[in-house]
Amino acid sequence: MNILLIGSGGREHALAWALARSPRLTRLFAAPGNPGIAAYATCLALDVTDHAAVIAACRAHQIEFVVVGPEVPLVAGIVDDLTAAGIPAFGPTRAAASLEGSKGFTKDLCRDARIPTAGYQRFSELSAAKAYVRAGRIPVVIKADGLAAGKGVTVAETLEDALAALDLCFATPRAEVVVEDFMTGTEASLFLLCDGQTAKVLGSAQDHKRAYDGDLGPNTGGMGAFSPAMNLTPDLEARAMAEIVLPTLVAMAERGTPFRGMLYAGLMLTNEGPKLIEYNCRFGDPETQVLLPRLQSDLVMLLYASATGTLSALDIKMTDVVALTIVMAANGYPGAVRHGEPLQGLEAAEARSGLPVFHAGTAIVEGALSSKGGRVLNVTALGRTLGEARQNALDAAGLIIWPGGFYRRDIGLRWSQSTS
Ligand code: AMP
Ligand code: GLY
Repeated sequence: MNILLIGSGGREHALAWALARSPRLTRLFAAPGNPGIAAYATCLALDVTDHAAVIAACRAHQIEFVVVGPEVPLVAGIVDDLTAAGIPAFGPTRAAASLEGSKGFTKDLCRDARIPTAGYQRFSELSAAKAYVRAGRIPVVIKADGLAAGKGVTVAETLEDALAALDLCFATPRAEVVVEDFMTGTEASLFLLCDGQTAKVLGSAQDHKRAYDGDLGPNTGGMGAFSPAMNLTPDLEARAMAEIVLPTLVAMAERGTPFRGMLYAGLMLTNEGPKLIEYNCRFGDPETQVLLPRLQSDLVMLLYASATGTLSALDIKMTDVVALTIVMAANGYPGAVRHGEPLQGLEAAEARSGLPVFHAGTAIVEGALSSKGGRVLNVTALGRTLGEARQNALDAAGLIIWPGGFYRRDIGLRWSQSTS
């Protein structure tokens, strides 16, 4: 099967690596891809917002299946357009992608289907939102409704912060805002491959959103992750499936918008049980970089079964080793960063870890691998325990030569049993 992978980050490098291991793959193409992905794929310089151009490229290269990595093309309806053109594609339709694309949509669905989640109100007017926040409890959580690349959420510890967050949200014309009760507990992410009716677990993970060691500094797209999640016991996972995931699939199917693709459930494990924080409608980044090294099943078969409604016949097998990834970011991230700095030592790191160093933001500049972006490399390693995986990843990361980059040394530290 010829496959086109859409995207250009560390998530897509991990997907390309896992797709390339499948005997079912004939040729892999990527749009736009990156220098890491280019080891497995022919990279096409396509504008993926131009769906007609993507369809034309599929026809030109006899592409039989498209795997969409990021949320933006999904919310823009690329799967609808590919399907209408007769090309099967992995990922939800535009309507089903509302589970990520609109926080208000998901909250209303949870309310209607009695899915445990934080209490909330939706607002389209600043003064009403402010009055509600003034009358309510602090901390409170303010969320802009649409896609915001992880930047649309404020957990406000004071009334002033909450009001300022509302001012900021409503500075955008026609803003929609969700105001949520603050939940306490620990967070875990559960990854479900779905085909509209069936959901199968493709692992769990815990991430690290703050930029610096000790969970300090600004929020980022994620500075590291490990899998499986240490806090998600089999009992909690079973509850999350029964109380959150399956009712969501039923509700989506009943609305005529069945969910196919990767359902990424962000969970808060509270005293009352798991509650939904949010859904994403695609693989996580950097979580994919720790899920796929644990996957033993054929990824091409799984993603194709998700797209074609045949998942119930398949099993997803994961090894019980622990995988951990450390994100190497450019100094200054998540703020402004310099591009074009040389990256060296990847081969040594790969020899140490036995896994590829996944490229998140790289380019070839005058023949040399260089940084291009905020999050640049994902150094991933395995271990029998979380402590061992962490040490292996740190050892590998230490072999990368990039003076302009930084990374957290404490990914997984809080949750590791060993003191390594
Ligand atoms: P989200 O983008 O919705 O995942 O939110 C980003 C982060 O904000 C989450 O990972 C949580 O740490 C936090 N968060 C979001 N909603 C809540 C909530 N209702 N209560 C407590 N923390 C929250
Ligand atoms: N790691 C967070 C995300 O993929 O949204």
